Amino acid sequence: MKTYICEICGDAYLGEDKPSQCPFCGADDNFIEDGDIANPVVIQDFDLSEKSLENLQKTLDLEKRASALYSCMASKADSYEVKAMYKRLSKVELEHAAIVCKIMKIEMPEITPEDCSSDDVENFEETIKLEEHASGLYHQFMSDADEKPIQKMFNALERVEKGHIDLIKKYV
Ligand SMILES: [Fe+2]
Ligand SMILES: [Fe+2]
Repeated sequence: MKTYICEICGDAYLGEDKPSQCPFCGADDNFIEDGDIANPVVIQDFDLSEKSLENLQKTLDLEKRASALYSCMASKADSYEVKAMYKRLSKVELEHAAIVCKIMKIEMPEITPEDCSSDDVENFEETIKLEEHASGLYHQFMSDADEKPIQKMFNALERVEKGHIDLIKKYV
């Protein structure tokens, strides 16, 4: 067994082989390194520009809302599969919020509960809209950033949120 570390969230995966995605934040295997060479974004020390701070705050707000929304959708889903999927999505978005807090060196704020529909199809559509918005925003935030670690983080998140769209589209 080996230790693999996610370059984005900094969490370790223990296993025989590198996972295709980080089980915590969903970053793909391009962002997963052998433990002995990893240098995750969340432990690096670098100065943040005003613009990046502003974009990180927007990201935090968005991720918190997404996490709360998916938690609501999980509670209202009809099938166990959809429930479990939304529960996972909620945890992944919460992890994204945690990554942003670590980079900003702030405590994780409280998550305000969100209301959602009790209709799965409406929730799938809402999810696709939210993820399209997020991935578009992260693409912009990546090009706004001068700091290499911030570019890398937004690049990873954009890809994760795009993956969420592909996942949900299988249901609609
Ligand atoms: Fe990760
Ligand atoms: Fe996210």
